[in-house]
Amino acid sequence: MDSALVIGGTRFIGRHLVEELLEHEYDVTIFTRGNHDNPFESDDRVSHIEGDRTNDSALEAAATTVDPDAVFDCVAYHPKDVQAATRIFDDREAYVYVSSGAAYGREEVPKREDETPLEACTTEQAIDDSSDTYGNRKAAGDRAVFAAAEKGRNAMSVRPCIVYGPHDYTERLDWWIDRVNRFDRVLVPGDGTNIWHRAYVVDVASALRIVAERGEAGEAYNVGDRRLTTLEELVEVIAAQLETDVEIVHAGPHELAAGGIDLEDYLLYRSYPHVLSTAKLADLGWESTPLEEAMERAVDAHLESDRDGSEHGPDREAEERVLGILETL
Ligand SMILES: NC(=O)c1ccc[n+]([C@@H]2O[C@H](COP(=O)([O-])OP(=O)(O)OC[C@H]3O[C@@H](n4cnc5c(N)ncnc54)[C@H](OP(=O)(O)O)[C@@H]3O)[C@@H](O)[C@H]2O)c1
Repeated sequence: MDSALVIGGTRFIGRHLVEELLEHEYDVTIFTRGNHDNPFESDDRVSHIEGDRTNDSALEAAATTVDPDAVFDCVAYHPKDVQAATRIFDDREAYVYVSSGAAYGREEVPKREDETPLEACTTEQAIDDSSDTYGNRKAAGDRAVFAAAEKGRNAMSVRPCIVYGPHDYTERLDWWIDRVNRFDRVLVPGDGTNIWHRAYVVDVASALRIVAERGEAGEAYNVGDRRLTTLEELVEVIAAQLETDVEIVHAGPHELAAGGIDLEDYLLYRSYPHVLSTAKLADLGWESTPLEEAMERAVDAHLESDRDGSEHGPDREAEERVLGILETL
């Protein structure tokens, strides 16, 4: 396997995947609409095809122009996208769909690929565009992968949990890094013990390559950091990377209400733990970057960027009101 087509590839996960493939000496073609700048524009190892993946004939044209061994699908948000791609690339050595941990339909710890049921997806949900149906649509994409494998196609799925690292446009981790970097006291929602499994983007990229090379058709593979942390531990790991000390202040729902904040307003807060088993992926030889190393790179990337997550999480003024009230108690 030495050539790859990456559907997507200029933004976050796909961008790291292209780097991973280049490191492993693949010839890479990316397929995007050209709305985002192409960071590989001046790299002659990466070709670019312009097109919209929701247009089947554009993908069909790419299939004949490029003739890739492996296809990585980073921008399939509807089951019809996966159905089309598995049909168009039916004779490839590997088709890997980037699914999501959100595809799981039952809360249990950990969520396992071959045990935990997936979300259902109605015909209305399958064509919806709202974030409410994201998990339903990703689960239906997984089922499209399984159906393609039944027909003899080498289709596989990778399910990342929350992805973080350089170029993370969601700014979920940036919000926390910014808090630790700028303030002495950091509010942590609840008792700080909640867990939302995260995946370092470089490890997601290696998982995608390894699954293409060694995965089995019709199988799904979770990917997430080997070492999980609670939200409070995350703050401590960030503080260690920034070589700073912060006072962690817990606030429950009633205390947060003083600032008009809900627990769920906090980025990376989830009341029920979300943990993915990564044993199946590890059996393929995949390894997770040590947490401190991953976090060091995430913190460095944050400091070099202008991302602070401020549009996504509670604002500091509201938090100060909560901190003020807690001080009087
Ligand atoms: N981030 C997370 O925490 C997380 C967690 C679990 C799963 N996922 C999954 O990861 C995938 C997203 O990864 P990413 O955003 O990091 O991917 P990416 O490949 O780095 O970025 C998306 C790229 O795809 C291109 N694109 C978007 N719509 C397109 C279209 N209709 N046709 C062709 N190209 C298109 C965009 O370029 P143009 O705009 O120029 O077309 C953009 O550069 C999704 O499948 C998501 O469900 C993400």
